[in-house]
Amino acid sequence: MKQLSERMSNMEASSVRILTKYAVDAEAKGKKIYKLNIGQPDLHVPEEYYRNIHAFQEPTVEYMPSQGIPELLKEVEDYYKNTGIDVNKENIYITTGGTEALMFTLFSLINPGDEVIVLEPYYSNYNTIFTITGAKPVAVTTYAENGFHIRDRASIEQKITENTKAILVTNPGNPTGTVLREDELRLIADIAIENDLYIICDEVYREMVFDNRKVTSFGFVEDVHDRLILIDSVSKRYNACGARIGVVISKNKEILQLISKLCQGRLSVSTIEQHGAVGLYSTGMRVINQIRDEFEKRRNVVYDGLQNIPGVICTKPEGAFYLICKLPVQSASNFLIWMLEEFEDNGETVMAAPADGFYATEALGKNEIRIAYVLEPDKLKRAIELLGKGLQIYSNK
Ligand SMILES: Cc1ncc(COP(=O)(O)O)c(C=O)c1O
Repeated sequence: MKQLSERMSNMEASSVRILTKYAVDAEAKGKKIYKLNIGQPDLHVPEEYYRNIHAFQEPTVEYMPSQGIPELLKEVEDYYKNTGIDVNKENIYITTGGTEALMFTLFSLINPGDEVIVLEPYYSNYNTIFTITGAKPVAVTTYAENGFHIRDRASIEQKITENTKAILVTNPGNPTGTVLREDELRLIADIAIENDLYIICDEVYREMVFDNRKVTSFGFVEDVHDRLILIDSVSKRYNACGARIGVVISKNKEILQLISKLCQGRLSVSTIEQHGAVGLYSTGMRVINQIRDEFEKRRNVVYDGLQNIPGVICTKPEGAFYLICKLPVQSASNFLIWMLEEFEDNGETVMAAPADGFYATEALGKNEIRIAYVLEPDKLKRAIELLGKGLQIYSNK
């Protein structure tokens, strides 16, 4: 048979699911696994979501306008106005998750050979989107030693070539939990203006910032609005990953025109889920604040627990619900596999994601894991205890 797509064949498997087959085997043998590998929040979806879904009683589930239903566009506009970011309905397109928002953005910006600067470690599914859209990622490495913040201006500028089209930023960061400071956003903005680059900012964790930090957003950096594309989603903000409702926002009319064509090409986002999302946004700051407080509590449990494990190094995450830590092992992947295959304590073990999949640079992240602290505090405490017990046995092997 004829050869299938080379581009897709070369696409890497998801690094957060890379250990799934070992987990399936372990579970088949009756082991209980505390899963900290996937950023799937376990908190309840607000009832307003289900209320709206149940209220949908139309005889037909019709296609909706490709930009999104007017009620949802209005809710998103109001949410942004309340956040202090001035966008209007015309600047907003509803998408099937932040993932589609990112895809449509890169499809709209990228020509063959175009490069996108991205701070690493970065959300590994960006690689899927880079592959599909033909964007070439150029990584600017950030380091645990300074909390994965931008090292200096030169670290970004030295990566710019005549092919650089955009800078992709995730704020707050996955997998780092880093919240970029205003001066870092300013630095990126200045570099983008000087070099005529677009800024894509993925802000799906926007309000999830801890220790009374201020929310920082490119939405507040007005002199880049003509070159800015904001990516947003209800997945994390309202515990509704499966609703698959995202948002792409820009004030650049040319970009919006291309995004609009892409939206028309895929016809419509799920009609009923959009009504559900209207319910989500109608909760204002109530749910957003609850979720942030809960994850701050969990961050403390995980971070404090890790401090007690000899040889584990991590910086305190500032937001989102992830952290990266260095383990006293050569290969975090081998250790995590061993935890699933060999280790158990009272029939229980723990699973995290090997962090090398979040780096584009070969050889980085080999002794690091990413923890998504998406379980209740008691479970997290036990999970970190299991990690410590496992490391102790593994290092003495
Ligand atoms: C940084 C980041 N962007 C985008 C997404 C995907 O969001 P959605 O579920 O809205 O497609 C995720 C999911 O984990 C993420 O961590």
